Amino acid sequence: MKKITIAIDGFSSCGKSTMAKDLAREIGYIYIDSGAMYRAVTLYSIENGIFTGNDIDTEKLKKQIKDIHISFQLNPETGRPDTYLNGANVEKKIRTMEVSSRVSPIAALDFVREAMVARQQAMGKAKGIVMDGRDIGTTVFPDAELKIFVTASPEIRAQRRYDELKAKGEEAGFDEILENVRQRDYIDQNREVSPLRKADDALLLDNSHMTISQQKEWLAEQFDKVCKS
Ligand code: CDP
Ligand code: CDP
Repeated sequence: MKKITIAIDGFSSCGKSTMAKDLAREIGYIYIDSGAMYRAVTLYSIENGIFTGNDIDTEKLKKQIKDIHISFQLNPETGRPDTYLNGANVEKKIRTMEVSSRVSPIAALDFVREAMVARQQAMGKAKGIVMDGRDIGTTVFPDAELKIFVTASPEIRAQRRYDELKAKGEEAGFDEILENVRQRDYIDQNREVSPLRKADDALLLDNSHMTISQQKEWLAEQFDKVCKS
């Protein structure tokens, strides 16, 4: 069967990566979490003195961006890809609240986006890819055959993230998470370079009241429709 490109965008913590990973595994496509790339650049910036308080040394980061190598490798235990930064597995480190609270300003920098988008486009050259993020359907793969834009209420998204962190043994307050979700939504939607917005030809999915298996079923139906058309 002909391989296509699938772009899944939307707001923070609404279930994009859960649905993207599951679909990719089922149909044998590559899955790329583009948010993990921006998180890895943020972790690198934290660990390499690019932040002073909340200030970002953009000149330093600009010089070093080409030395930030990000890759993904399947974790046989979880069956899902782990993120590697310059050869080290950083999957856990990039999911902390510290990284979540610093990632959106890093992802708003034009030279960071330029570098990440070029790498993402290279990964998707052969199609057969599911990528999730904020600008996949608008900027990275504007010609993707299937585009989804996912949303859910901020409270529901914060609750999902809270439950997830709790299950991992990481204590973060619900209010802190809700504030982070709102802040990232605001920065992501209002930045100058490829802000978060629904592509005109993307299908809108509000999964506020959907279970993971319901959204999975919905996505599989959309994939079948595109493949049959
Ligand atoms: O999983 P979660 O919704 O928390 O976010 P993520 O997908 O891990 O993305 C983290 C941050 O990276 C987002 O809040 C955006 O600021 C940025 N991002 C972006 O700008 N463009 C993308 N294609 C993906 C993520
Ligand atoms: O990738 P994104 O940030 O959009 O979200 P995610 O990491 O896929 O999902 C965030 C959390 O919400 C995960 O713990 C999912 O298991 C959970 N989730 C849920 O409870 N119900 C859904 N319909 C979708 C996701």
